[in-house]
Amino acid sequence: PKIPVITIDGPTASGKGTVAQKVAQQLGFHYLDSGALYRLTALSVLRRGIALNDEHALAKAAEHLHCHFDGAHIFLSNEDVTQAIRAEEVGNTASKIAALITVRQALYGLQLSFRKPPGLVADGRDMGTVIFPGARLKVFLTASVEARATRRYKQLIDKGFSANIEDLSRDLKERDERDMSRSSAPLKPAEGAYHLDTSDMTADEAVQQVLSWYAALG
Ligand code: C5P
Repeated sequence: PKIPVITIDGPTASGKGTVAQKVAQQLGFHYLDSGALYRLTALSVLRRGIALNDEHALAKAAEHLHCHFDGAHIFLSNEDVTQAIRAEEVGNTASKIAALITVRQALYGLQLSFRKPPGLVADGRDMGTVIFPGARLKVFLTASVEARATRRYKQLIDKGFSANIEDLSRDLKERDERDMSRSSAPLKPAEGAYHLDTSDMTADEAVQQVLSWYAALG
């Protein structure tokens, strides 16, 4: 029998990570935070001083990513980088290198390997369009720029980073633009995706909606 996959794609800070994690928890499924793989690659690249125009070196860094996931913790070569990969600089670099098809190809197999029984919830930009096109349920999660900037602001402050709403809104728009306009795996709703605008929803309400869509598929 096929291992079921639920994909949750959407723009930066749309709440897809929180929703995907909770849906996975409720169903007892595995969870893939695909953005974390791009962030891990970005962190590794920044630390090693690899130039962002050295495509060959960037792809190599992605291919030889030594990472592992342990519950909510993310490790790069055995160092806990759960917090470090959330920095804005890392996210912006991730979005730049994610535009390269060689980097995306280097991370393809790693992403597929997260599909294990009894099932997987995967979040990102191209989970439903490219990585798991045969997913049982595909969700496209959005929220207004204002709602997303406010959420990102709270997240960063809670994690001890400094932040400014105007800068965050501008960065979000830039990143949306880059993620949607790139030629390789651009951010867009997958065919057959269910759309969910979470601007005025709590995370739990969004989780309930996804779970009821999934249950309705039988
Ligand atoms: O989702 P998150 O903000 O952590 O992702 C960081 C960056 O990685 C995104 O801005 C996007 O450019 C890239 N990404 C991607 N494809 C995915 C997940 C993330 O291109 N499936």
